Amino acid sequence: MQKINSQFGVPHGREIPINQNVLALIDRIAELPSNWHNAGSVPLKGLRAIARHAEQIGPITHSAETGCGRTTLLFSHLSSNHLVFALDAGASLSQTRDSALLNPQNVTFIEGPSQLTLPNYSFKHKVQIALIDGPHGYPFPDLEYYYFYPQIETDGLLLVDDLQIPSIGRMFDIIDASDMFNLIEIVGNMAIFKRSDAPLIDPLSDSWWIQGYNRPHYEEITRQKFSLLRGLAYITPRPLKMMIPASVKETFWLWTGR
Ligand SMILES: C[S@@+](CC[C@H](N)C(=O)[O-])C[C@H]1O[C@@H](n2cnc3c(N)ncnc32)[C@H](O)[C@@H]1O
Repeated sequence: MQKINSQFGVPHGREIPINQNVLALIDRIAELPSNWHNAGSVPLKGLRAIARHAEQIGPITHSAETGCGRTTLLFSHLSSNHLVFALDAGASLSQTRDSALLNPQNVTFIEGPSQLTLPNYSFKHKVQIALIDGPHGYPFPDLEYYYFYPQIETDGLLLVDDLQIPSIGRMFDIIDASDMFNLIEIVGNMAIFKRSDAPLIDPLSDSWWIQGYNRPHYEEITRQKFSLLRGLAYITPRPLKMMIPASVKETFWLWTGR
């Protein structure tokens, strides 16, 4: 969390010019009344950042988000196939569906609680952008991350909104430490990560020890385990050691760092 706080509002992204039509669209989205929907929205500078990064990695053929609203209006013009996993809290879904600013042919709404719709959804394509901004209570964004991360293409973007919520801040720290994602910008309360070419953590595996967030702990317990083994080796009588095959000894010394 400390790390996040120090980076709040500090854009690291290179300034990329945004297409004039998209800028005009964002201006029109900004003119919507504050109570256009009542579920909270990504602010204007967040929308601009999304457009800027989408422009950089585009064209966007596939994207997804949880929750909906102003971001959906924007994605409906940035992406030719945008998936929306949302329910209608604060009239966010109905207002979006009815908006003249929506480009409906590019959007598929998967209506319902993402806790149920995402596990049941079978992605046909990888996505270039995924935004997590649906239910915010723990562990719901984490659950959404679980279903989104394997679908994000190399160099694709993962956006996580509402980092100020402590449990989402913790998720931010875990993703930030992951080899799979590099943080490229924090704008307001939204983090923008880029998928690296690091191998996918198999979503059906265990793998905790290869995750960056856990690595210092794993290295510490491994070091302790091996210093115990080295102590044992030190007190083992020489005749007993002579009985151990050379290949086993070699493996042992390799493990313990000699
Ligand atoms: C913060 S708003 C999203 C705002 C949107 N990104 C914008 O910029 O206007 C949260 C969204 O999550 C939706 N939501 C809340 N609980 C949900 C759930 N369990 N499953 C799916 N969507 C949910 C709400 O209906 C709302 O659309």
